Amino acid sequence: MGVHQQECRGLNVVLLGPPGAGKGTQAERLSRTRKLPKISTGDILREASQAGTEVGLAAKATMEAGNLVGDDVMSKIVKDRLDRDDARGGFVLDGFPRTVVQATALDRMVDGRGPLVVLDMVVPEDVLVRRLATRRICSKCGANAAPEWKAVCEKCGAALITRVDDGIDIVRERLKVYLRQTKPLVEYYKTRPSFTAVDGNRPPDVVASAVDAALDRALESAARGAAL
Ligand code: AP5
Ligand code: MG
Repeated sequence: MGVHQQECRGLNVVLLGPPGAGKGTQAERLSRTRKLPKISTGDILREASQAGTEVGLAAKATMEAGNLVGDDVMSKIVKDRLDRDDARGGFVLDGFPRTVVQATALDRMVDGRGPLVVLDMVVPEDVLVRRLATRRICSKCGANAAPEWKAVCEKCGAALITRVDDGIDIVRERLKVYLRQTKPLVEYYKTRPSFTAVDGNRPPDVVASAVDAALDRALESAARGAAL
């Protein structure tokens, strides 16, 4: 490891997993508890689409069909975000990388910034389908409503809506796309010592404890100077 790499070490977390696995839920919590910027590429695209930017408008139809936005566009969005000062000490990535091309691009982006800690959230397909069928999000701030959601967002009071891509046919398409294009990332990352599969089919707090334990193990190994 070079000197530069030691100087720039941070907690660089990647949350992998299929649609509905709980990536956003855990990313949100980690961002609060570990004081790391949460970089959720789905949220970034939805905000861009709502704001009517060129990138957002171009991505809208692709997202609503359950397909992936192009690797070049996504990698540029993430590179620009990681270049901002608040991400220098680490970050939580939710929804990126999603293809092997994106994973290779990410390795280049974080070169010299310390290793990635990759957590793969594992949840059976029938549970994913059930979660997405009942999910509601805020029409204004985009936050997930709590599982026992009420009529309005508890953060900002706006109306709750169903996410456009949570209809059953689109969810099936998203799951297919995940299996074809994103699941291969488990092979890509699994030989790295910091890779951990987390059973995501447990209550959110229990999943959170498993995520924390995996991160603490990775930090302890790094402190001992072990490769991650
Ligand atoms: P994105 O927004 O990232 O969607 P996704 O990956 O399909 O995942 P979700 O947000 O649906 O699920 P999640 O894992 O975050 O689960 P959550 O915590 O919300 O991407 C959307 C689209 O953008 C893509 O289809 C693509 O078009 C485009 N895109 C984004 N990134 C891209 C990229 N890198 N490349 C190309 N295209 C890209 O939880 C789900 C529900 O379950 C919630 O209701 C939650 O309350 C509940 N829940 C969470 N945890 C638990 C638990 N432990 N027990 C019970 N319920 C739980
Ligand atoms: Mg999400």
